[in-house]
Amino acid sequence: MRVAVVGVGYVGLTTAACLAHLGHDVTAADLDPQRIATLSKGEIPILEDGLPQLVHDGLAARRLQFVLGAQHAVPGADVVFLCVQTPQGDDGAADLTYVESVVREIAPVLTPATIVVNKSTVPVGTTRRVQQWLSEYGASTDVRVASNPEFLREGQAVRDFLNPDRIVIGCEDPATAVRVSELYRDLRSPVLVTDAASAEMIKYASNAFLATKISFINAIANLCEAVDADVREVALGMGYDPRIGFEFLHPGPGYGGSCFPKDTAALLHTARQSGYDFGLLDGVVAVNRQQHDRIVDKVRDALGGTLTDRPIGMWGLTFKADTDDLRDSPAIAVARRLLDEGARVCAFDPAAGEQAATRVDGLALALDPYDAATDADVVVLMTEWDEFRWLDFGRVHDAMRVPAIVDARNLLDPAALRRRGFAYLGVGRR
Ligand code: UDX
Ligand code: UDX
Repeated sequence: MRVAVVGVGYVGLTTAACLAHLGHDVTAADLDPQRIATLSKGEIPILEDGLPQLVHDGLAARRLQFVLGAQHAVPGADVVFLCVQTPQGDDGAADLTYVESVVREIAPVLTPATIVVNKSTVPVGTTRRVQQWLSEYGASTDVRVASNPEFLREGQAVRDFLNPDRIVIGCEDPATAVRVSELYRDLRSPVLVTDAASAEMIKYASNAFLATKISFINAIANLCEAVDADVREVALGMGYDPRIGFEFLHPGPGYGGSCFPKDTAALLHTARQSGYDFGLLDGVVAVNRQQHDRIVDKVRDALGGTLTDRPIGMWGLTFKADTDDLRDSPAIAVARRLLDEGARVCAFDPAAGEQAATRVDGLALALDPYDAATDADVVVLMTEWDEFRWLDFGRVHDAMRVPAIVDARNLLDPAALRRRGFAYLGVGRR
C-alpha cells in the first residue's frame, strides 16, 4: 500500500521504516528541514536499536523517502499516519495544536478515499474531531479516519513494531478497519477492531496501568525500607504469579519519558472533565513525584544531611537505558533539585550528548563515569545503562573523595561494593 507518515520523531520514524520493511511504499514528512535532510542521507537523528538498518534498506529499495512538508507526502496515499507530538498542556490535557495544524495542511490535498490514521496518543474523541477538522478544512467527504495507537517502547521500538502484542484499530466503519489491518498482514498478532473512543482509551488505560504497576512497586519498596525487607525478593515472589507477572516491577527513581507522565496527566484531565474522581491515578502520580524526592533525600542522607557545595557525580541522564531521550527524565528532575539545594553535579551519560547541559542550569558534563566520580562525595546512579555494571570499581573508589553510591535503579551489587569499602544505598533493599 502507499503510505504517508507525518512527523518523523521517535514514533513516526519507526512507523515509516517498519512499514517500508513490510513492503509498503512510504513517504515520510516533517516540517523540520534539517531532520529531513539528515534522514534523506540515511543518517538517524535518534538512538533506536535496529532503526538505522531499516532506514538504510528502505532508502536503498526506494520504498522509503523523506520529504519536507506534509502536503507533499499525502497526495495519492492510501493511508496517512499522523505521528506528530501531543505534548502536555498547562492544564494537563494533551495539546492537539500540532494534530490540527497537520490536518489543516493536508485536508485540501488528500486523495478521496484516503484513510487518515492517528498514531499519536490523543484524548478520547479526537478521531471524531479529526474527521470534523478534515471536512472544515476542505477534505473530500470520502476521507475516513481511524485510530491506531502505538505501544512502542523507546530503545526497542523496532522490535515492538514488528512483534506487537496486539494491534488496535478504532474506527466506526468496518471496511476502513479492514484496510488499515491489511498494512499489518505479515505480522503475527491479534488485531482488535473496536470503536474509536475505545481504541483511544486503550492507549491511555494501558500506559496508566503500567505507571500504576511502577508506582505500586515503588510504594512497596519504600515500605520495605521501613520494615527491613528487600523489594527485589518481594517483586520476584510476586512476579511468579502469572496474574501479576515480572514486568514493570522494578523500583527506581519514578517513571519518566515522553509518555507515562504526560498520559497519566491527560487521563486525569479527562476524568476531571467527566466528573469522575480518579483518586487511584492521583495516587500513582503522587507516588511518582515523591520517588524523585526520595532519591534526593537519599543523596542528602549519604552526605550527612546537607547538599550545599557538595560535589556529586551522576551516572545516567536519560529517562531509561538504551535511549538518548531526556524528556521528563527523573535524572534531570533530580539533578535540578540537587543543584537548587546548592550541590555541584557532574554527570555522565553514554547517549544524552551535549543537549543535557542546556536542559539543566549549572550541570557539568563528564567525559566518562570515572570523570563524573572524580573527587565526588557521592555518586548517584540514575539510569540503568548496562555499562555501569561493569566499571572498574577499584578505580571509582580511588577517584572519589568519599566512596558512597546511591543506586536509584538497584543496578549494582551492594555486597561487592561494600566489600570494596563503598557506602551503598539502593531502593527498597537492606
Ligand atoms: C509520539 C506521539 O505523537 C505522542 O502522542 C506519543 O505520546 C509519543 O510519541 P514522538 O514521536 O515522541 O511523539 O514525538 P517527536 O519525537 O517530538 O516527533 C514529532 C515530529 O513531528 C517532529 O519531528 C516534528 O518536527 C514533527 N512535526 C510536528 C511535523 O512534522 N509537523 C507538525 O505540525 C508538528
Ligand atoms: C512506554 C510504554 O511502555 C509504551 O508501550 C508506550 O507506547 C510509550 O510509553 P517508554 O516511555 O518508551 O514506553 O518506556 P518504558 O520502557 O515503558 O519506561 C517508562 C518509564 O518507566 C521509564 O522511566 C522507566 O525507567 C520506568 N520503569 C519501567 C520503571 O521505573 N520500572 C519498571 O519496572 C519499568
